[in-house]
Amino acid sequence: MYKIAVAGTGYVGLVAGVCFAEVGHQVTCVDIDEHKVEIMKRGLSPIYEAGLEELMQKNYAAGRLHYTCDYAAAYREADAIFIGVGTPEQPDGSADLSYIATVARQIAENVDKDCLVVVKSTVPVGTNDKVEQFIRDFLVNDVKIEVASNPEFLAQGTAVYDTMQAARIIIGTESKWAEAMLMKIYEPFQLPIVSVSRRSAEMIKYASNDFLALKISYMNDIANLCELVGANVQDVAKGMSYDERIGNKFLNAGIGYGGSCFPKDTKALEYLARQNGYELKTVKAAIDVNTAQKTILFKKASQRLITFNGLKVAILGLTFKPGTDDLREAPSLENVPLLLSQGADIWAYDPVGLDNFKQKYPEGKNGRGSIKYVENVEDALSGANVCFIFTEWGEIKAVNPEAYKKLMRTPLVYDGRNIYETVAMKAAGVEYHSIGRK
Ligand code: UDX
Repeated sequence: MYKIAVAGTGYVGLVAGVCFAEVGHQVTCVDIDEHKVEIMKRGLSPIYEAGLEELMQKNYAAGRLHYTCDYAAAYREADAIFIGVGTPEQPDGSADLSYIATVARQIAENVDKDCLVVVKSTVPVGTNDKVEQFIRDFLVNDVKIEVASNPEFLAQGTAVYDTMQAARIIIGTESKWAEAMLMKIYEPFQLPIVSVSRRSAEMIKYASNDFLALKISYMNDIANLCELVGANVQDVAKGMSYDERIGNKFLNAGIGYGGSCFPKDTKALEYLARQNGYELKTVKAAIDVNTAQKTILFKKASQRLITFNGLKVAILGLTFKPGTDDLREAPSLENVPLLLSQGADIWAYDPVGLDNFKQKYPEGKNGRGSIKYVENVEDALSGANVCFIFTEWGEIKAVNPEAYKKLMRTPLVYDGRNIYETVAMKAAGVEYHSIGRK
């Protein structure tokens, strides 16, 4: 078993660190945020993620998992250092690598024995070559340092499962030493390992995420056409899914993909292509379709209603998907300002995302409109003139069609996640609009 340091305790870093400890490695998770480190030492997860706290507590108690702000000590003793810090999108679509550079510098100044540095963060192709050079340039002690790529494919909400039961582990290395060490680190997981070059590993991450984003945008495009020609996109998806070449996942049409990966990674790859004098037309199309899709229901409702001014608008679901409190690139963030600018009085419900949303939109008057947060679906719907469903939380899916008719002033529902049967809503007396279905 190895001594592993993990830089960054966001989704990627923390989950990786906890899972490495779970299979028996000695892990130190490093973060610059003292408050966060204190919280984690108390057994609490700074992110909402099913099953994570249990594993944090178990492995901390077993002495295999440590948290610290003292990066110097953590890096000095490590056999391998995994970098899981953020690579946020910059205004031009490129990835901001300053956090990676900071960690690389700290590693260079502190490692005191041969060490493998493994980049888990999603980085543009070629970045690992630069990170390796950068560390060697600033290296203080005479030790061997190599950089490997090990992209992460976990989805929020299922992060622990996705790591422990990953479909594959991608390792990108440039030497037998680095390859053998990563193979050994991952051996206890007993998962398929694909070993390729560093640049190919970096590309696999983008190509995979962008392919999934493209699949969703393609279905959204088809959904919009289905509406115009009288077909049902869910039936179309079902019919397509029996073809194994297409597969049965990520075919759900809706109000667009959000989250921390697809929006960022599509733009980053498109940017990388442009930098290399190439136009990545398919990915660009996925981005364009997604941008328009996020406000498609608002546009539909705007045509149906004369104005939102003074209307009570119920919003069910704020997060970019169920199972997370993350709001990054969530369709709600596009629609709420539009509704407020038109004078809507919003009553919003989300089982876990309210606190985060309140920080962006404090409760009360906002421009011409207002926003109020409620603790259950019923309060959001009571007396509402129109309802938007943005996230398919179980609590929201459990609401009967009849409840909309009973609770709302006018039962007018715009469902961005196709959670109801159109016939059931019609039978309940609800005017129901969804995606890609008449
Ligand atoms: C994604 C990838 O799944 C993961 O492998 C990668 O490492 C990070 O990006 P995540 O962003 O957590 O994970 O969520 P995911 O479940 O993939 O959903 C992304 C977005 O696509 C959500 O907004 C979701 O609502 C949307 N989506 C997904 C659809 O609109 N339709 C689908 O069929 C599937």
